[in-house]
Parts: sequence; C-alpha cells; structure tokens
Amino acid sequence: MEGETIFSGGDRTRVTVQCIIAGRASGTVWFDDVSVAEVVYEQEPKALPGDSKRGEQIFFNHPVAGCVRCHAVAGKGGVTRPALDGIASRKDEAYIVESLLSPNAKTAEGFKLAVSPMPPVGLILKGQELADVKAYLLTLKAGN
Ligand code: HEC
Repeated sequence: MEGETIFSGGDRTRVTVQCIIAGRASGTVWFDDVSVAEVVYEQEPKALPGDSKRGEQIFFNHPVAGCVRCHAVAGKGGVTRPALDGIASRKDEAYIVESLLSPNAKTAEGFKLAVSPMPPVGLILKGQELADVKAYLLTLKAGN
C-alpha cells in the first residue's frame, strides 16, 4: 500500500513524522521509503476569472481535494468540520483565499488545532480549479 499526505509546516523549520496505525488496529506494520519533500506551488489564484459552477463540481467531486469529506454545504458532506454555508457572508475573499492556500494561517473559530488537518488546497488544485472553487465559495451567502 502506498500513502501520501500533504501538510503545511507553517513557519516551522522542523517537523516530526510519526508513522502509526490509526485507531484500534492491531498487528504489525512495516514502513519503508518514508520521505518528506517540499512542494512548490502557485501562490495565488491570480486574476483568473472563476466559474462557480465548475467550482461546485470540484467541491463535491474532486477525488483528491475531497472538500466534502470534511465540509458540508446545505447539509451535504462531512459534519465534523466547519460547514461552509454562508461563508461568503461571514468572511471576506482574502480570508477564503488564505484558508485555501495556507490552512494553518488562520484557524476557523471553534477549531483550535496546532496543525490544521485541512490540506493546503493550492497543492492539489491547479490555478483555474482554485479560482473556480473560490468563485463557488463566494456564492455561499447567508440565507441561500
Ligand atoms: C481533511 C479535512 C478537510 C478537507 C479535505 C478540506 N478541509 Fe477545509 N477546513 C478543514 C478544517 C479542519 C478547517 C478549520 C481549521 C482551519 O481553518 O484550518 C477548514 C477550514 C476551511 C475554510 C475556512 C472556514 C471558516 O469558517 O473559517 C474554508 C473556506 C475551507 N476549509 C474550504 C475547503 C475547500 C474548498 C476544500 C476542498 C478544496 C477543503 N476545505 C477541504 C478541513 C478540511
């Protein structure tokens, strides 16, 4: 089995990587070829015009970004993380972009975590996809 995870180290200059079997699994497991590599990515969703319909598709269907594994919109999706209904009324565009690019920079109210489990979406989505997701999130106004 192969696994890969992407995280943002924020301002840290050192990280500790622990390989464990999660939960109550028992038995023996061997890990090999564990490595940490820096990923360089586009910083900004630039001035690309986003398409909110495509953004919605990405939000609900993108296999890797998996927004709905964690977030719900209109009752669809994960419930353990902040639901994004009304996000565009609660937060401004800059905050939303920041949440996508460097999840550790700001932590959503009520979710105090040392390192955010939210993947830096900028590593997973291409510039246009990121612009589309941003456009979609900006349609999520309170009362919709
Ligand atoms: C593995 C779970 C996970 C996935 C997958 C994930 N997120 Fe998140 N997200 C979180 C958590 C936890 C927070 C709150 C803590 C934080 O801000 O880091 C968050 C915060 C946010 C926020 C800020 C919310 C607020 O109320 O401040 C936005 C916007 C957001 N995510 C959008 C997305 C989008 C869009 C995707 C998919 C491209 C996505 N997330 C994928 C876990 C996830």
